[in-house]
Amino acid sequence: MSGSRGTHNFNGFISFEGIEGSGKSTQAKLAADYLKGKGRDVLITEEPGGTKISRKIRGILLDAGNNMDPLTELLLYNSARAQHVREIIYPALTRGIIVITDRFSDSTLAYQGYARGIDLAVIKTLDDIVAPDLKPSLTFLLDMDVEEGLRRNRAAKKEDRFELETVEFHKKVRNGYHQIAVEEPDRIKIIDASASVGDVSKKIIEILESQWL
Ligand SMILES: Nc1ncnc2c1ncn2[C@@H]1O[C@H](COP(=O)(O)OP(=O)(O)OP(=O)(O)O)[C@@H](O)[C@H]1O
Ligand SMILES: [Mg+2]
Repeated sequence: MSGSRGTHNFNGFISFEGIEGSGKSTQAKLAADYLKGKGRDVLITEEPGGTKISRKIRGILLDAGNNMDPLTELLLYNSARAQHVREIIYPALTRGIIVITDRFSDSTLAYQGYARGIDLAVIKTLDDIVAPDLKPSLTFLLDMDVEEGLRRNRAAKKEDRFELETVEFHKKVRNGYHQIAVEEPDRIKIIDASASVGDVSKKIIEILESQWL
């Protein structure tokens, strides 16, 4: 996770993170559209997903009918990511394409680490193997009240395995994200995601313009 091996130095890698219903998919698309409008070459992708194999793994992970052991869950997320980074993300970044991903390694730390309780050091070690030196240069953490996020998703009829978790679980996820953000304040920008879609997008674009473009 330290990036100290320094074999890759990509700075067009942007991730969106946050609890369920915080607007990651909505805002990732708006940011991608904005950058494309500025003439940039942009690839938008998501985790778990981005490749045929990773999408199949996503199906297993999000299936509300599956009662999954936390270790299985951790390894499946990492399997999906291993394929995603090798098949899609590294090649795109190498070609100079901006990659915007809807969730990445911080999700694994927040959900499987802080919320499920798996040792953070184990998760970081796995991440070093799966995505060596691949850290987003910029991460938008869409932060909002957990119950409100879940309400948004219920209104949109989204019901995957994580939507069925307790509010307590989701509060641990949110708290985990806060801890990660404290450790890496330069990379992780906390955005108030309770504002309107337009206002959240405006804030994100301001940051893209001031810090990155
Ligand atoms: N700022 C907002 N205000 C109100 N509703 C919003 C806002 N942003 C997104 N929504 C709506 O809330 C729902 C969840 O948004 P979205 O799918 O973008 O969140 P997400 O973080 O990607 O969720 P998930 O964690 O389930 O992938 C959608 O129905 C979306 O239209
Ligand atoms: Mg989404």
